Amino acid sequence: MGHFYVTTPIYYVNDLPHIGHIFSTVVADTVARYRRLAGDEVFFLTGTDEHGQNIERAAAQQGVRPIELADRVVSRYHDLWRRFGMSHDGFIRTTEPRHRRGVEELIRRIEDAGDLYVAPHEGWYCASCETFFTEKELAMPGHRCPTHDRPAEWKSEQNLFFRLSRYEKPLLEWIDSHPGFIRPETRRNEVRAFVAQGLRDLSVSRAGLGWGIPFPGHPGQTVYVWLDALANYLSALGFGAPGEDGPYRTFWEGDGERLHLIGKDIIRHHCVYWPAFLLSAGLPLPTSIWAHGWWLRDQKKMSKSVGNVVRPDDLIERFGPDVLRYFLLREMVFGQDASFSDEGFVDRYNSDLANDLGNTASRVATLARQAFGGATPPEPCDDNPVRTVALAVIAEYREAMAELAFQDALRALWRLLAEANQYLVAREPWKLIRSEGPSPRLSRILWNGLEAVRLVATGLLPVMPETAARVLAAVGSPVPASLDALAWGGTPNGVPLPEPQPLFPRIDKEKFMAEIAAPAPAASPAPPAAAPVPAAPVPAAVAPTAAAPAAARIDIQRFMEVELRMGRVLTCEAVPKSSKLLRFSVDIGEAAPRQILAGIAREYRPEELVGAEVVVVANLEPAKLMGLESQGMLLAATDPEGRPILLRPHKPGAVPGSRVR
Ligand code: MSP
Repeated sequence: MGHFYVTTPIYYVNDLPHIGHIFSTVVADTVARYRRLAGDEVFFLTGTDEHGQNIERAAAQQGVRPIELADRVVSRYHDLWRRFGMSHDGFIRTTEPRHRRGVEELIRRIEDAGDLYVAPHEGWYCASCETFFTEKELAMPGHRCPTHDRPAEWKSEQNLFFRLSRYEKPLLEWIDSHPGFIRPETRRNEVRAFVAQGLRDLSVSRAGLGWGIPFPGHPGQTVYVWLDALANYLSALGFGAPGEDGPYRTFWEGDGERLHLIGKDIIRHHCVYWPAFLLSAGLPLPTSIWAHGWWLRDQKKMSKSVGNVVRPDDLIERFGPDVLRYFLLREMVFGQDASFSDEGFVDRYNSDLANDLGNTASRVATLARQAFGGATPPEPCDDNPVRTVALAVIAEYREAMAELAFQDALRALWRLLAEANQYLVAREPWKLIRSEGPSPRLSRILWNGLEAVRLVATGLLPVMPETAARVLAAVGSPVPASLDALAWGGTPNGVPLPEPQPLFPRIDKEKFMAEIAAPAPAASPAPPAAAPVPAAPVPAAVAPTAAAPAAARIDIQRFMEVELRMGRVLTCEAVPKSSKLLRFSVDIGEAAPRQILAGIAREYRPEELVGAEVVVVANLEPAKLMGLESQGMLLAATDPEGRPILLRPHKPGAVPGSRVR
C-alpha cells in the first residue's frame, strides 16, 4: 500500500464554478477513488484561492468586503462538491490562519536560503493572471494577455524578489532526471525550453495591496498571490503548524506519490516557480504535475471574462452529476483541449449511457429474472468469448487509469459492453427461455451477460460512483471495496435480482435542443453579479435525476433587484416556424406594451391568453429568440411532466405595472 496525495488547483472566488473548474476536481476525485480502490492511502485536497487584486476588485464592484464575497462563493463550491459526491479529504481556504502559518514558514525557509532581496520592479502585469509578462509574451497591438486577451497594465514598484535565476540549472537537471515530473510530454518539453532560455528573478511581493498575507518582516509588502496560493499544497497538510506531524509528514515528506492536477494556463507557476520555491526551502518536490487542456466553447477557453461559460447547474439538474462526470472524462483526451456542446452531451448520453450501458444492464437482468425465478443464474461460466475480451479490457483499463487516460479506460469498458451485446444477440437467450427453460446453457449465457455488466460497473465506480453502484445493484452484485473485484467471476449465483428500474431514460434530442435554444427559466441559481439572462420559461427535458440544487440564499435587497410586475396580455399569437413559442404584447403600465416571447405554445392556445393577467420579469436584458426580441419573461411553474403552467393571480383586478413581491 502506498501513500498518494492528489491536489486540484485552488479556485479563485471571484467567479462561480463552471465546467472548466469542475473538470479538475472530477479528475482528482476519479483518481482518488481509483487509488483508494487499488489499496492506497489517499489524501485528496481541493480549496479556494481568496487573496489578491482580482478578488478585491470583484468584491468592491459588488459592494461587499472581500471575505464576504469569498464566503459566498466558497459555500457554492461546498454545495457543488457535495452534490457531485466529491470525496476530498481536505479543503483549504487561503484566508485560514493555518494557511498563513504555512506561507510564513515557507518564506522563512526561502529567506534563510538567501533567496530573497528587495529591488525596484517594473513590467507588464495582467491583473487577471496576477502575473508579470515580458513584452514578447503579450499579444499586439495593445499588450494583451495571452490567456485573457485583455490589455496588461504597466506596473512599477519596490518589491521583494526571489532568486529564480539560481534555480535554472537545478530545475533543468530535475526535469531531465525525472521523466514523469511534468506530464504530458509536450508540456514537459515546453517547460524545459522555457527554463533553458534563461530565468529571471521573480517578484514575490506587491506594495500597497490590502487583501493578502503581509510579507513577514517587510511592512507595506503583501505576499505575491501565487507564492501565497502554491503554499496551500503544504499548509493544508499542516506544514508550519507546531510539530508538523500531521498528514504533512506522511503525504509530503514520505516516499509516496504527490500529484498536482492543473490546467495548462497555470503550468509556469506550478512547473517552474513552485519547484524552485521548494528547492530553495529544501523541501521535497511533487512527484508529478499533470496539465490538462481547456474546455472550449465556440473555439475559445471557457472563462468568465470571455462570457462563454457552461454552468453546471442545469446539466446536473437534468441529468444528475454522474452523467456530467462521465461526459467530461469520456470526451476529453486528457492533456488536450475539448469542446463542449449541448448536442454532443445529449448524443453521448443517449448512445453510451441510455443505449449501451442502460439497455444491456436492464436486458440481461430482466431475462435472468424471468428465467431463474427473480434471481441471478445458478451456473457461472469460465470459457467463452466474453471472458477473453474481459481479461484484455481489464488490463487495458488499469493501464489507462494509471496514465490518467480516462477516455481510453472508458472506451475499453465499452468494448466489453459491445462484446457482451454481440454475444447475447448471437445466442438469443430470449428465445431459449421459451424453447428450453432454465437450462444450464441459458444460465451460462445470462451469467456471462451479467458478469460483463458487473465488470463495466466496477470499472465505472471511480468515474460515476453513484450510478455504478445502481448498476451493480441491478445486476445482483454488491459494491466492492477493492479493485480486486475487477477480475472475471464475481457475479454471485442464485441471489435475488431487484425489479429493473430505468437507469438512463432516453432523451428526445430534438425536444432537448429546442428547449435549451430558449434559455432556462429563472429557477437556475444565477451568479451574484452579471447573471446570464433568461428570456422565456421552458420546461425541463426530463424529470431531474438528482435532488434539486440547494439554491444559495440571498437577502431581500437582492431579491428586490428582480423587477416582477403585473402585466395584462393585449395580443398573443403563434411564432411562425416555431412549435413552441408564443409572441405576446403585454401592458405593464409603461408608455408602450412589451413584446415578450414564451415557450408555451404546446400547452396554451393564443386566443385563450388574450386579456390574461400574468407576472412579468421586467428588468431582464432583452434576448432574441427566432429573430424576435423578447423584452422580459413570463413566470411559469412546471407540472410533473415538465410542462409549463403560466402563473396567474387567483382573482382579477391586479393593476398592470404594479410590483409583485
Ligand atoms: N487560483 C489559481 C490556481 C492556484 S493553484 C495554486 C487559478 N484559479 S482558477 O479558478 O482561475 O482556475 C482553476 C483551474 O481551473 C485551473 O487549473 C484552470 O486551468 C482551470 N480552468 C478554468 N477554466 C478552464 C476551462 N475552460 N477548461 C478547463 N480548465 C480550466 O488559476
